[in-house]
Amino acid sequence: MKISISDIDIKPRTKVLVRVDFNLPLELGPAELKKYQHRLIESIPTIELLVQKKCIVILCSHAGRPKGKLEESLRLKPIGDLLSELLNQEVTSLSSVVDENIKSTINSAPEGSIFLLENLRFEPGEEANDVEFAKNLSALADIFVMDAFAVCHRAHASTVEITNHLNSYMGLLLEKEIHNLSNVMQSPKSPYTALMGGAKVSDKIQVIDNLLPKINNLLIGGGMANTFLKAMGFEIGDSFHEPDSLAYAANLLETTSNSGVNILLPRDAVVSDTFGSSQDQATVNINEVSKTSHIMDIGPETAIEYSTIIKDSKTLLWNGPMGVFEFKEFQVGTQAITEAISNNANLVSVVGGGSTAEAVEELGIASYITHVSTGGGASLDYLSGKLLPGIEALPDKG
Ligand code: 3PG
Repeated sequence: MKISISDIDIKPRTKVLVRVDFNLPLELGPAELKKYQHRLIESIPTIELLVQKKCIVILCSHAGRPKGKLEESLRLKPIGDLLSELLNQEVTSLSSVVDENIKSTINSAPEGSIFLLENLRFEPGEEANDVEFAKNLSALADIFVMDAFAVCHRAHASTVEITNHLNSYMGLLLEKEIHNLSNVMQSPKSPYTALMGGAKVSDKIQVIDNLLPKINNLLIGGGMANTFLKAMGFEIGDSFHEPDSLAYAANLLETTSNSGVNILLPRDAVVSDTFGSSQDQATVNINEVSKTSHIMDIGPETAIEYSTIIKDSKTLLWNGPMGVFEFKEFQVGTQAITEAISNNANLVSVVGGGSTAEAVEELGIASYITHVSTGGGASLDYLSGKLLPGIEALPDKG
C-alpha cells in the first residue's frame, strides 16, 4: 500500500507539486474541451484538499506528443482556464515548465494559490526520465503528489524520477483508481461479466487473458467482435477487423469452450453499405451480413441478450462501446447496455480504457457507474496485471 496524501500532516504554505493527467484533445479547440473534462473533475478532490490545507498547489501535466519541442497548439492554458471554471477559483497557467521567474512567482504566491505549469512534454527531459530535468522540477516544490493514474504506465521524469528528489505521496484520485480497479481484479463478486467492445482485439489480449480465470461471462461487441466473427467463419463484408488477431480469436474460442466462461458474440447486427453517418442501414441476422456491408452496431436481439446477463451480474468490467459510437445512429446498442447497467442496483461496475469514459459521459450515465477510470492505456495495463512504473516508484506505507 502506498502512502497517501491523506495519511500525512501538511503545513500551510507547503509547495506541492501535483502530477495530474490533463491530456485532453487540445486540437479540438476550447469549446470542445468540456466534453473531455472527466479527468479534470476527478482531479479536483486532491486540489481542494491541498487548498483547504493552505498549500501552494503546482499542477503539472503533459498533453499530446510534442516530442520535447514547444508546440503553440499544445499549450495548456485552455485546460487551465477550464479547470479554473470547474473549481470556481483562479488557476494561473504559466508559460514555461521550469525557470527562475516561475520559482519566484510561486515562492511569493499567497497560500491556497493554484498554478499549472506549461506542457511537460515541451521539455526533452520529460519522456527521457532525465535526472536533471526531474531535479529542476523538484526545486519548485517541497513535496510531490502523484495523481495522474492515466500516465502511470509511462516511466517519465514527472512520474518516476521525480520521486527520487521529493518526498512523494499518492493523491486521492490515484488512491481511488487503485482501490476500484484492484477490487474487480482481486475480489469480484460473481456473477462477474466483462463487456468488451471498441475497435481492436490486439489492445485487449492481455486484459482478456488476465480476466478469464476470474469472470463468468465475456460479452463481445464493437469492432473487435468482427475479428471473432470472421475467425468463426462468418461473412463480415467490409467491416473493420484485425487479420493479425484472427488466430488469437479462434484459439480463445476453442480453448474456452469447456472452461465454464460463457463467451457471447453478436447474434444480429446493424449494417450499412457506407462507413459513416448514414440513413441507409438495416438490421440483419449475423449470418446474413452481405459482402459489401459494414457492421456498425450490435443488433436489438444481441442488446437484449447482453442486457439480461448484465441485469443478473454482480460485477461488471466494461471497456469499449458496442458500435461505431462517433455516429449517433450507431449508439443505440451501447445505449441499451447502459440502461441495463443503470437498472441493476446491485452491480459494481467499472469502466476502464479510452473512449468508454467519453461514451458514458455522452450518454449521461456516469452516476450509475461505480467507477469510471480516467485511464486509457494505463487502465488496460493495470487490468492486464502489469506493474505501472508511476505507482511502483511511490514509497510504501510502514
Ligand atoms: C493517455 O491519455 O492515455 C495518457 O495521458 C498517456 O498518453 P500517451 O499515450 O501519449 O503517453
